[in-house]
Formats: sequence, C-alpha cells, structure tokens
Amino acid sequence: MLRPHKSESRLIAALSGKAVSPPPIWLMRQAGRYLPEYREVRAKAGSFLDLCLNPELAAEVTLQPLRRFDLDAAIVFSDILMVPYALGQKVEFVEGEGPKLEPIRGGKDLARLDQAEGRFAAVYETLERVVLELPSGVPVIGFCGAPWTVATYMVEGGSSKDQAQARLWAYRDPFSFQKLIDLLVETSIVYLLGQVKAGARVLQIFDSWAGGLPEDEFARWCSYPTRAIVAGVKTEVPDVPIIGFPRGAGAKAETYARETGIDAIGCDTSMPLGFMRETLQSRLPIQGNLDPLLLLAGGEHLEARVARILNMLEAGPFVFNLGHGILPDTPPEHVARLVELVKGKV
Ligand code: CP3
Repeated sequence: MLRPHKSESRLIAALSGKAVSPPPIWLMRQAGRYLPEYREVRAKAGSFLDLCLNPELAAEVTLQPLRRFDLDAAIVFSDILMVPYALGQKVEFVEGEGPKLEPIRGGKDLARLDQAEGRFAAVYETLERVVLELPSGVPVIGFCGAPWTVATYMVEGGSSKDQAQARLWAYRDPFSFQKLIDLLVETSIVYLLGQVKAGARVLQIFDSWAGGLPEDEFARWCSYPTRAIVAGVKTEVPDVPIIGFPRGAGAKAETYARETGIDAIGCDTSMPLGFMRETLQSRLPIQGNLDPLLLLAGGEHLEARVARILNMLEAGPFVFNLGHGILPDTPPEHVARLVELVKGKV
C-alpha cells in the first residue's frame, strides 16, 4: 500500500495503477444544489448557463465542496452540454425541467452547426482560476460528455427516457449519424486539450446513456468514438489520466475498457462489486459505485455499504465515488460522514 507524500496527488497515484490507502475520494456533481452556498451563488448568477459562463462564480462553486470536505479532487463546474453550445446549438436550462435544446433531427440539420473554440473560453478561465486556489496535491478534473450521450441530448432536444430519436437516426441513417458523432469526437478532443492546457490534470468522459444500446451499436457509437477521443488526447498529452464512465454498460464494460484505451473506468450503482474486482480492477483502476440514494438516506445502511465497498476494492487501484451524481436533497452532513468513513476517521 502506498501513502503518497502530501503534495502528490492521491487520485493520480490511484489512476496510475497504485493501491492507495485510504483510497482517494471525489464525488460526481460534488458542486451543486445540495449545498446552500451553491444555491446562493446560483441565484446571483441568473441561469445555470450564465453560471457556467461566469469564470469567477464557476470557480467559486467548484471550490465550495473542497472547503467543506476533505476531497482528493475538484471537478470544474460546467456541463456536458457546453459542447452543443460551442457548436452553435441553442441550449437552455429550464428551471425544474432540465436542459432544452433546439433538436437536430437528421443529416440536413448538421449544416446548422459550426465550430468555435472561443465559446469554451469561459470554462478554460474557470480552470485557470481554480488551479490558483488548490493545494498542489489536489488536482482539478476536466470533463466532457461522450459523443453518444451528447448526441442524444442534441437529437432529442433534452433528456429522454429511451433516447429513441437518436437510436432511430442511428439505425435508419448511420452514415449521417456518423457525421454528427465525428464532429463531436473532433470537438471533444479540442475541448479536452484546451482544459488540460488551462490546468486540468485528470479527465473524465461521461457516457451517461451508454446503457441502452445493444452490443454492436454500443461498440460503434460508444466505444469507438471514445477510443478516438482518447487517442487524440493521448497524442498530445500522454500522461494525463482519462476516466471513462459508461453508465449502464453492465457486462459490456469489459470490452469498453479494453477497446477505448481509457486509464480507469467509472462504475455505476448497478455493477456488482465482484464483477468490478475480478473483471475490471484486475486490468485497470476502477471508480465508483455507491448509490447516490443511499448517501441521501444515510444511517447504518450507508455505513455498512461503505465498509463493504472498501473491503472488496481497496486492495487494488480504486477511487471512491458514487455510481451517479449527488442528488439535490442529499444532506451535506451525510457527505461529511462519507468522507470520514472512507478516510478512516470514524
Ligand atoms: O460534477 C460536478 O460537480 C461538475 C459539474 C457537472 C454538472 N453537470 C453540473 C450541473 C457535471 C460533471 C455535469 C455532467 C452532466 N450534465 C451529465 C453527465 C453526468 C450525469 O449526470 O449523467 C449530464 C447528462 C448532464 C446534462 C444535464 N445538466 C442535465 C440532464 C441537467 C438537469 C438535471 C439536473 O440535475 O438539474 C443538468 C443541469 C446541471 N448540471 C446542474 C448542475 C449542478 C443543475 C442545474 C442547477 O443548478 O439548476
């Protein structure tokens, strides 16, 4: 077991394949509505998109969870829908309803998109500000959505139950759907490299809707585009670890890990710990997979589950995290307790 020097990153040590004790911890959506200080800044900023585009306030909310909890990383406050925004698609976040985009419904609509890296400038500036505030052992994570997941929002015009419009386009006209995916691959490489240049030391690719696809489509629309992004980023910055998070992939996570070239794999809540250990952790570092609802619930059941996860996974390279983002109704004290449990300060 390795105990990294204070100024070394415990997260980067785990992502490079070391068993770190206690394991590093950060939480998806660790900045957000469950924190009263977030809601205050959010009210000041106006809309959610205004907050993402305001580097001073976005840096402030990125740092808020680190002031409260002993977390091992920050994640830049932004959204996976910054990419459609940068491609010129109209993106809005409607209070209580989630994201709304002007849908793209086929090859003919692709001409409406353009590429302007300038539209990422606010995110890069947020990163530059965050890096100045963080101790050297705490890296900031940059991220993007995987092309498939981002495409589902672009095509559906928002969240959807079964991503039917995107799947239908991919089945009916894979040639033009591939053009959309290729555009997202290219833009995501530029965006991730820009984030690294601005100070991100770890990257995560969120494929939140990977789960619904049959295996051939999963390979074509999830694994291969992710592999292209990883290859594109690694050509320029080979040492920056990349975490892939194919939510809902189940047994397909194994081929995903093998085919994409990611450094570590994020596991959702449905994944059995035995599978995570035997099939995934035996070949690469893993991250996950506490149920966000259990964190919300708290109590004895939470304590027992955290102990079980640690017991099963901490002997190998492991990053403690949730299986999906923190829910807005989560009491911040439960998060504090979770961090204590993982760090062994009980
Ligand atoms: O993890 C972090 O703390 C960094 C910030 C972050 C946000 N979104 C902020 C956010 C990250 C990493 C994301 C990723 C994201 N965004 C994903 C992938 C992860 C996942 O949850 O599956 C997806 C699918 C999105 C798209 C998105 N953004 C949706 C569906 C919604 C609405 C649902 C909701 O929770 O409100 C958002 C809005 C959003 N993104 C909020 C935050 C804090 C809430 C907006 C608010 O403050 O009102």
